[in-house]
Amino acid sequence: MTDSSISIVAIGGSTRPDSSSERAVRLAARGAQEAGAHVTTITGRELMLPIYDTETSDRTPQALALVEAIRGAHGLLVASPSYHGGVSGMMKNALDYIEDLAAHDPPYLHGRAVGCIAVAYGWQATVSTLQQLRQITHALRGWPTPLGATINAADTRFAEDGSTADAAAAEQLRTIGQQVVEFATMRSTLTASSDIADGQTS
Ligand SMILES: Cc1cc2nc3c(=O)[nH]c(=O)nc-3n(C[C@H](O)[C@H](O)[C@H](O)COP(=O)(O)O)c2cc1C
Repeated sequence: MTDSSISIVAIGGSTRPDSSSERAVRLAARGAQEAGAHVTTITGRELMLPIYDTETSDRTPQALALVEAIRGAHGLLVASPSYHGGVSGMMKNALDYIEDLAAHDPPYLHGRAVGCIAVAYGWQATVSTLQQLRQITHALRGWPTPLGATINAADTRFAEDGSTADAAAAEQLRTIGQQVVEFATMRSTLTASSDIADGQTS
């Protein structure tokens, strides 16, 4: 399947450049690209935004770019490091900015699949963090993909070029990217056919 009209935003990582969670989301992004999507990656320190502020609509250019990319995307890939058993503060804050799409049509992540990826230095925190990412996706009206990824960075090492010798982890990440594109393609087809049924062919 190839559909270059599908655009996906891949966000993730920690403050550490080339972190494990950044490399994980990049591998998932590769899966989405292989499925024919255009992928925009916003990772690592690009996600270091001021605390989401409900008392002003002023936003930094970096925050505006993130929200605009998500607004135009057909699907998302999100990878968080596990910090103290949960989503890191930086990633949660970045996701809080999706509140700026509350009044948008469609609101929040409506109609978008979200591939969720959790990376920790041990198994326990990967599972709780993946669960949190899925709950956040639900709260934002998105659709978590059937497959999520739990990456234990104590076992799964990423090389400098972003690859990993852990074939099972690499395949899991790529599959998540493909599932996001698959859902986006199905939604696009559905929307196009209902527009035709409504007589809106332009
Ligand atoms: C503040 C902080 C808290 C962390 N808490 C946990 C934890 O609760 N469980 C765990 O397995 N790893 C924990 N880690 C380790 C990270 O999850 C680990 O380094 C993983 O590789 C993801 O980080 P990275 O994307 O920066 O590589 C923590 C790291 C930091 C900096």
